Amino acid sequence: MKALTNYLILFCALACLLAACSGGGENKKTADDFKAKSSDMSPLELKMAEGKKVYDKTCLACHQANGNGVDGAFPPLTKSDFFAGDKLKLVSNIVNGIKGEITVNGKKYNTEMPKQPVSDEEAANVATYVLNSFGNSGGEVTVEEVLSVKK
Ligand code: HEC
Repeated sequence: MKALTNYLILFCALACLLAACSGGGENKKTADDFKAKSSDMSPLELKMAEGKKVYDKTCLACHQANGNGVDGAFPPLTKSDFFAGDKLKLVSNIVNGIKGEITVNGKKYNTEMPKQPVSDEEAANVATYVLNSFGNSGGEVTVEEVLSVKK
């Protein structure tokens, strides 16, 4: 009887050890998976992923999650003709702000957007994200370009 109890205890200990080991193994696999995933992303995709974080934190409150803005108050970034021909206008708005009358997709706005509290790198990332989102025509913005328009 004593031998059987000992055997059971040993068995349980082994089973627990096995469970713990395979659990640890799974965690490691997830971390590796994540690494593989982010290294699969192109530099542009990584920039956009970072830019989306900035957008959600900084721009979304006014320009909305879908980029459509709010009629009469916040102009749309969706298919915006305001910066379609010149991405630096988008960059300048972010780092310098903009005020006064502007026309976006045929509608007039006359309010003010304060310069945004973002680093030069965050400005490049969020501008790249906006250019490649909301039906806009793509492109990339570098930190050098941000510095070139910053007043
Ligand atoms: C506090 C609200 C607010 C926040 C936050 C804000 N904006 Fe704006 N944005 C505005 C307003 C208001 C205007 C229009 C200003 C005017 O009438 O001159 C504008 C205009 C713009 C324009 C030019 C017009 C257009 O729609 O193409 C762009 C581009 C733009 N914002 C991008 C951004 C980006 C990118 C961010 C985040 C980094 C951001 N904005 C954050 C309020 C905001």
